[in-house]
Amino acid sequence: MAHFGETMQDDIQEVLFSREQLEAMVRRVGGEIARDYRGKRLLLVSVLKGSVVFMADLMRAIDIPAQIDFMATSSYGAGTQTSGSVKILKDLDIDLSGYDILLVEDILDSGKTLSHLMELLQTRGPASLRICTLFDKPSRRQVPVEPAYVGAEIPDAFIVGYGLDFDERYRNLPYVGVLKPSVYE
Ligand code: IMP
Ligand code: MG
Repeated sequence: MAHFGETMQDDIQEVLFSREQLEAMVRRVGGEIARDYRGKRLLLVSVLKGSVVFMADLMRAIDIPAQIDFMATSSYGAGTQTSGSVKILKDLDIDLSGYDILLVEDILDSGKTLSHLMELLQTRGPASLRICTLFDKPSRRQVPVEPAYVGAEIPDAFIVGYGLDFDERYRNLPYVGVLKPSVYE
């Protein structure tokens, strides 16, 4: 059973990245992408819902032509771990052939979600396919996945805010914080 405080702030143990730090991080990653994808057919694919806030800021930090699309996979539900198989809940609208795809994720944890998505999208014949993740928890990896762009590597803690949720909550926090374990234990 989850125990939520009265305000979102009550449930945050520690602020990991402030608004300003996130902004600088996104600006840096957007600059790297713009430099690397100049002259290419860049398609940013956001994995719903966790990456929407990052995606909205990132696309405006990329100063070259780009298209966007969205897909959704089955989520954690109310837990803090990825379950076994990954289901596609919403597929892409665009035919990927010829596009340079950058999968935009909120956080890379066990790697199960992204390795499955990479395999699936690779079968559709994109010109290239790489990963941009805002956060990476390399110590938690169970399946090998290498992101091309990373906002920041973080230790093994459950974080929320800036799109990231626990039980669909906290996505609207403008900063990223560590959730108090008492909320989900
Ligand atoms: P993976 O398949 O285990 O790599 O899980 C990736 C997904 O798990 C992310 O897209 C998030 O939705 C979720 N996730 C993993 N770690 C966290 C976290 O610390 N906070 C919130 N969501 C997380
Ligand atoms: Mg989630």
